[in-house]
Amino acid sequence: PTRVLFDTDPGIDDAMALLFLHRHPGLDLQGITTVHGNARTDTTTRNARYLAERFGLEVPVARGAAEPLAMPKSAPPTFVHGDDGLGNAGLSFEPTLPLDPRPAYQLIIDTVRRHPGEVTLIAVGPLTNLALALKEAPAIAGLVKEVVVMGGAFGVDGQGGNITPVAEANIHGDPHAADLVFTADWPVTVVGLDVTHRVLMRNADFARLRELGGEDGDFMWRISRHYVDFYSEREAIDGCYVHDSSAAAYVLDPSLFTIRRGPVRAVRDGLARGQTIQRPDDRDYPPTAWDDYPSQRVCVDVDGPRLMTLFMDTF
Ligand code: BDR
Ligand code: CA
Repeated sequence: PTRVLFDTDPGIDDAMALLFLHRHPGLDLQGITTVHGNARTDTTTRNARYLAERFGLEVPVARGAAEPLAMPKSAPPTFVHGDDGLGNAGLSFEPTLPLDPRPAYQLIIDTVRRHPGEVTLIAVGPLTNLALALKEAPAIAGLVKEVVVMGGAFGVDGQGGNITPVAEANIHGDPHAADLVFTADWPVTVVGLDVTHRVLMRNADFARLRELGGEDGDFMWRISRHYVDFYSEREAIDGCYVHDSSAAAYVLDPSLFTIRRGPVRAVRDGLARGQTIQRPDDRDYPPTAWDDYPSQRVCVDVDGPRLMTLFMDTF
């Protein structure tokens, strides 16, 4: 199995992704790091401890950044993930699982150093912790197997952002960190809205999980009611998009996705803050400042039904 470290802001789809990557035998979870995003870091950290305990995960959970690198934090999207970050499902949160004493960036550094060349970082929240790890120990870039980011929107087939017409939430939440992560010399794959909007979890899937998925299935059904209501109202879809689990699915089976190669940047300030842009390697642009950045991978298409089969079969 592939060793993975999960950097997350739980978050309803984060919780589902955590359960998915834990249940799938192809992934070996090494640790969980929390970040601001869907809720404040106190809340996402409490949620991560609660989930780890509930799912029986014997891995360190470390608290991460409470705010972006270079701008004030914004109000959490309680209308998407609920006041408690897990869908206001009436969960009684009293995790006893101890918190790892290290800050998230240090757990990332230590995990990568312990297994050189073997650890894949799956990041499904704002990228602050990964950027801090790079700043603290730049050499880890050469030791990481791969970085898989759920974030961004590249405008493939006219798909826009979900925070502004050009910006997706995780990148908008800390664009300075995202730009550092995308331009560092490590292999990054970006799984953005261009593809996650093509992976639909329908109400019928939730009903099936609830019926056949035991305690896990029932739990996913319960925490997702708020999220599904939000998506049904705002996007008029039957169910919800599968964001964070799509990043885990990429690690399990990259053949589900179509990849475009080229350097990636995030717009840090101004009107287009949080926009993600790739300069495709196969396009002949005049020389630019981009030429020095490593070529990364952006997912531009996905076999949504096959990804959903992988997800559902895992439970
Ligand atoms: C991303 O933002 C959060 O709401 C989700 O957890 C996901 O990581 C989608 O834009
Ligand atoms: Ca998330």
